[in-house]
Amino acid sequence: MTHYMPDPVPLYGPDYAADPHAVYAKLRQYGPLAPVEISPGVSAYLVTDHRAALDLLQDPATWAKDPRLWQATLPEDCPVLPMMKWRPNALFNDGDAHARYRSVITDSFSLIEPHLLRQQVAHAADLLIREFAATGETDLVTQYARPLPLVLFNALFGMPDHYSPRLVAALAGMFESTGSEKANNADADFEQYVMELVSLKQGQRGHDLTSWFMDHPAGLSLEEVIHQVVLTMAAGHEPTTNLISNSLSRMLSNPDYYSTLSGGALTARDAINDVLRSEPPMANYSAHFPRRNVRFHGTWIHANQLVLVSYHAANTTPDGLPADSIRTDGGAHLAWAAGPHACPVKQPALLIATAAIERLTSHLCDLELTVPRDQLSWRPGPFHRALAHLPARFTPITPDQAGVTPWTSSSPSPSTPPAATSTPKPNTSAPSAPQPA
Ligand code: HEM
Repeated sequence: MTHYMPDPVPLYGPDYAADPHAVYAKLRQYGPLAPVEISPGVSAYLVTDHRAALDLLQDPATWAKDPRLWQATLPEDCPVLPMMKWRPNALFNDGDAHARYRSVITDSFSLIEPHLLRQQVAHAADLLIREFAATGETDLVTQYARPLPLVLFNALFGMPDHYSPRLVAALAGMFESTGSEKANNADADFEQYVMELVSLKQGQRGHDLTSWFMDHPAGLSLEEVIHQVVLTMAAGHEPTTNLISNSLSRMLSNPDYYSTLSGGALTARDAINDVLRSEPPMANYSAHFPRRNVRFHGTWIHANQLVLVSYHAANTTPDGLPADSIRTDGGAHLAWAAGPHACPVKQPALLIATAAIERLTSHLCDLELTVPRDQLSWRPGPFHRALAHLPARFTPITPDQAGVTPWTSSSPSPSTPPAATSTPKPNTSAPSAPQPA
């Protein structure tokens, strides 16, 4: 059997980030699967068709998530490995191992009451808005949408607020190119943060995700707890940032949404549904590997060859509009993937994004973009649909003014006691942190 792979189309670099739909149009000429390169020399097939994407995602008997045989073919310093190499966590395992890890994450998130989550989002939002509210201008990506999930995770995992700048700084450093000194330092800082978090919770459990991960009946080892913490923070950060910022960019550039800021027709949730369908925060991912040589929707694929799913292409037609076959109520898109590895935190993530947008626009009700949406720049990378910046201005607000402000209206911070630095260190080393590609 021969497996001919035509010249792959690059998904890294500025062309794809600037106009993904032009690239999808080219890819669709190959049929439901197209050859791509996710980094120089690293090729994959990308599924661009909605039906084929569902067939793959819902067939774990044919398609495995475990990347170990594939990753053994790559050089150790390959820049996609931090995002894609095997770890003992939900994302990179199949069958019973996957179900065990995933149950820890889903069961623990289900213990967070939605109204308390909303309060914690408001608290995180207010902390961030205070930093720029008096200036009248902000970058809604770097000063709001990117740090917000981390300030929130810091609290949900049980750390006091004064720890969150460390988490924000560490993950911001990882947006530097992989392998750079700054990225390596950021990786080490993130590891140190997670080790301190776990040490603290070993000594004193709290009402938080880390403690629930540790005490879950699945009985994770300490190393496995650390890996699920790292996965949850890493898997939750980038897409939540993009869901908030992509939605805000639509709301602030479309008068139908803009009027909602002063009581109009379309809501933040409409913008979020619009983004999930036509600009999903994760554009391409769901790395899968066939367990044997297979012919799939007309293409022969080797066992253990990398196949990715383009949620973005599968959701949209060549002109970038939601595909006809997709319902308009937000129900049938693939932004959360599908099948056993679909996002386990969909409902909390929707609540987080909605509450973050509503909190921002309620405090800064005349927000407007300073750069038109069609001139905004998008961060290169094969996996995400991510704005690099979202510059905006508004009428400044100050701590001493009357009425509800981010200084007066904040919910109480979580009741976790301050972290002691002298608690015993766990007898294991932290995994290296996944880095954005
Ligand atoms: C609180 C925020 C979030 C957390 C903690 C979170 C967590 C996770 C975890 C742990 C997984 C791996 C599940 C598994 O393999 O069984 C996952 C998968 C996924 N999540 Fe989320 N997520 C969050 C927000 C989002 C958002 C906002 C989106 C996009 C709309 C998203 C899209 C996805 C997708 C597409 C997958 C499948 C990834 C793959 O297999 O390649 N997630 N998420």
